[in-house]
Amino acid sequence: MTEVAYKFHGHAIVSDNDMIADADGKMPESLVNASDFTRFQRELDRAGALIVGRKGHEAHPDRRGRNRIVVSSSAKEIERRADGWWWNPAQASLDEALVRAFPRGGIVAVPGGRRVFDLMLEHGYDQFHLARVRGVFVEGGVPVFSECANGRSAEEVLAAHGLVPAPSEVLDATARVAVTIWRKQKSH
Ligand SMILES: NC(=O)c1ccc[n+]([C@@H]2O[C@H](COP(=O)([O-])OP(=O)(O)OC[C@H]3O[C@@H](n4cnc5c(N)ncnc54)[C@H](OP(=O)(O)O)[C@@H]3O)[C@@H](O)[C@H]2O)c1
Repeated sequence: MTEVAYKFHGHAIVSDNDMIADADGKMPESLVNASDFTRFQRELDRAGALIVGRKGHEAHPDRRGRNRIVVSSSAKEIERRADGWWWNPAQASLDEALVRAFPRGGIVAVPGGRRVFDLMLEHGYDQFHLARVRGVFVEGGVPVFSECANGRSAEEVLAAHGLVPAPSEVLDATARVAVTIWRKQKSH
């Protein structure tokens, strides 16, 4: 029997100081970039499921009929609602959630926010696509990982969790946006 396999791909765009959202918990215009958005949507299309926080889900309703797994303390274990699967990690494991919501296996995209990025960091990413907008500093915002609040950069956090970077790709030279794919280091 073939075991169902999952690949977890994180996706974030951050400021110079590793923020994904501003002090009000909203994504600032300074972090929105058309080239990054196009690439991000293409990556989401490659995935068979998305794990997203409840606030991000509500701020960006699913218009493309993607297979969303919304993380929320309001969910009972893993349950089907009209707008997707809702998952409470305190009541059901990731495996249990995926068996219900994405039984065939494949790429699971993780577009955040912070607590979802933290949660999946513990489970382990196969890839993390880290886009950065140079020259943007977001005062008092939401960091991509909680560990960044302790003065660690997103790169340091990813490296500490066993991921290694590929060469960066410039997405928009004028806006100074580049993406780096961090991949799980192969065990020998
Ligand atoms: N720049 C980027 O790449 C990027 C990425 C992601 C998001 N954003 C932006 O960031 C903003 C929101 O991000 P956010 O981090 O504040 O919120 P979020 O992750 O979208 O949502 C947070 C909510 O998700 C639920 N949640 C997350 N982890 C959980 C856990 N382990 N157990 C139970 N529930 C959990 C909770 O919902 P309940 O309150 O229902 O329990 C929590 O209040 C949005 O404006 C979004 O556009 C930007």
